[in-house]
Amino acid sequence: MTSLLDRADRAGRPAYADISVPALRRGAARVLTGNWTGASTVPSRTLYPHQWSWDSAFVAIGLRHLSAHRAQRELESLFAAQWADGRIPHIVFNPAVPEDAYFPSPDFWRSSRAGRAAGAPAAPETSGIVQPPVHALAAWLVHRADPDLSRRHRFLDRAYPRLTAWHDYLLTRRDLGGGGLAAVVHPWEPGTDNSPCWDRALARVDPAPPDTFRRADLDHGHPRDRPTDLDYGRYVRLAADYREAGYDDRAARPAFAVEDPCFNALLAVGEHALAATARALGRDDAPHTARADALTRHLVDRLWDAEAGLFRVRDLRTDDLVEERAVTGLVPLLLPHVPPGVVQALRGTLAGPGFAAPGTRLVPSYDLTGPAFDPQRYWRGPAWFNTAWLIHRGLRTHGLDADAARLRQGFLAEAGRSGFAEYVDPVTGEARGARHFSWTAALTLDLLRSR
Ligand code: SER
Repeated sequence: MTSLLDRADRAGRPAYADISVPALRRGAARVLTGNWTGASTVPSRTLYPHQWSWDSAFVAIGLRHLSAHRAQRELESLFAAQWADGRIPHIVFNPAVPEDAYFPSPDFWRSSRAGRAAGAPAAPETSGIVQPPVHALAAWLVHRADPDLSRRHRFLDRAYPRLTAWHDYLLTRRDLGGGGLAAVVHPWEPGTDNSPCWDRALARVDPAPPDTFRRADLDHGHPRDRPTDLDYGRYVRLAADYREAGYDDRAARPAFAVEDPCFNALLAVGEHALAATARALGRDDAPHTARADALTRHLVDRLWDAEAGLFRVRDLRTDDLVEERAVTGLVPLLLPHVPPGVVQALRGTLAGPGFAAPGTRLVPSYDLTGPAFDPQRYWRGPAWFNTAWLIHRGLRTHGLDADAARLRQGFLAEAGRSGFAEYVDPVTGEARGARHFSWTAALTLDLLRSR
């Protein structure tokens, strides 16, 4: 099926909201060039001036269309900061950036000292927590963009052991619930910092006093778009407690420990990507296929809520499912082997009043009808472009091409109209958070190449 945007592209007419496809492509490429540091890409020159883990994976997925070589470097600079226990840290700090440009800075995390026993490298400095495992999928897609170049650089040969160590870490040290899923121990780990899904678990955390730290995000971000001070106090407490435990998952007793459906769906998709990678390297793919299937089963057994029509978060401190309905509960649509009834239910939820945003055709980060919905504040309602990209891929995986095409249209229109914003109001499309945001630009380039 040819989308309107593709037809407009070929005819050279303005495609949507006065932005032609070539202009959209040029604008997205300019964002990625402007945010490139020489070895990796910052998510935003102002708000996030270092390298972020899942951002880099999404960036590599788009960058491969501009330069497969640069996309390889993006991932390899992240892999170079991997800890000996297998974890890929959520931030890799650039020593050339002033300490006060971002909080929490390297002197808060103290990875090379506090994390030494857990396997942190002597350099670079990193954070001690992780982010969703998009990397195996990204590495596979980067390889596929230019397989000859990839083989010449032995890109997959070098990436494969890094990625298997990363997944091993998540499936062993992080299986805190004992049910075969990876747990996250800080709201920054699932990447959806202030989602209402964390409110109940965070209420049990004693916040660090506000005068013990200074938020740098408010130098660049509007306070209404960002998490609250109370949330930050709790983020700081949890990170400091983990650091005091040496970032050792066997010693730490995290007050916050949950199983997130998006995080685990990405891990399962990553295992499918590792199976493809293993085959390309002439290795046995069976262990990866088995892991992907097991993760899919555990996701359905432990997190699926048929009545709600989406996957929920499991709180490991109370061992029950959290009430809130978030976009992360729709992302397991990505998995090729979820039961057909689950696919149909997720499709229904996407089209229902909670997640079909009138106006933008994007997917809000939180149920539009939910009690905590806020169209402006970070992960409490705004629509994000990475989750839209994941759901688009999920719809395509299950042959729901018309739904996918509609989402793609909404994505491209709002990305262009908002100046590649970090997130937008799901109903009006008004830009929120940072502008010229790297993964919005990168995933725009990727969707321009797909249907
Ligand atoms: N998302 C966090 C921040 O806003 C860190 O990962 O700084």
